[in-house]
Amino acid sequence: MKKPHIKPTDKETVLKDGEFIVSKTDLKSRITYGNAYFISISGYSEEELLGAPHNILRHPDVPRCAFKMLYTLLEAGEEFFGFVKNLKKDGGYYWVFANITPSFDESGKVVGYYSVRRKPREGFKKVIEPLYQKLKEIEDKEGMEASVKAVQDLLAQKNVSFNEFMLGIQKGVINEL
Ligand SMILES: Cc1cc2nc3c(=O)[nH]c(=O)nc-3n(C[C@H](O)[C@H](O)[C@H](O)COP(=O)(O)O)c2cc1C
Repeated sequence: MKKPHIKPTDKETVLKDGEFIVSKTDLKSRITYGNAYFISISGYSEEELLGAPHNILRHPDVPRCAFKMLYTLLEAGEEFFGFVKNLKKDGGYYWVFANITPSFDESGKVVGYYSVRRKPREGFKKVIEPLYQKLKEIEDKEGMEASVKAVQDLLAQKNVSFNEFMLGIQKGVINEL
């Protein structure tokens, strides 16, 4: 299924405590598996999701540089942690704290990707919403290279890696920009 045109609304679905949204993709980020919670929260049927590109859930409020960070880490064989706002089929949205990792075969070759998401910690929006808004503004005016640089500058100023920054927010250790 191709990515449909959906008009985003301000209707938020908050994730349940202790529940995980799980999906797997092939190397081209096409969905090969989704657990029951993934399917139900997205609003799509399993048939619609399987084989679809994972950007079917792409929400316009997430800056492109967040996905650039994701693929830079995955291509280096590393995992990614980050907050992602996802678009439901009905136009509503849900925020997740995502961990995305490469999947390896017995010979160590990357054969796909795997993602597990949980409910973000209370208060994460105070840091992430203004950050993503600022990065989107930079992207709109100056392009993605500039927004990637803005992220790198922020990380250098805080002396943390991208994953440490995101995990810090989820743990409640980082509370401001
Ligand atoms: C395992 C895996 C899970 C992903 N999960 C999401 C997701 O939940 N939401 C999302 O917007 N993108 C997700 N992505 C990234 C998308 O494939 C895509 O790169 C992103 O939505 C940006 O799409 P665009 O380049 O069309 O703007 C995931 C990628 C992988 C490999």
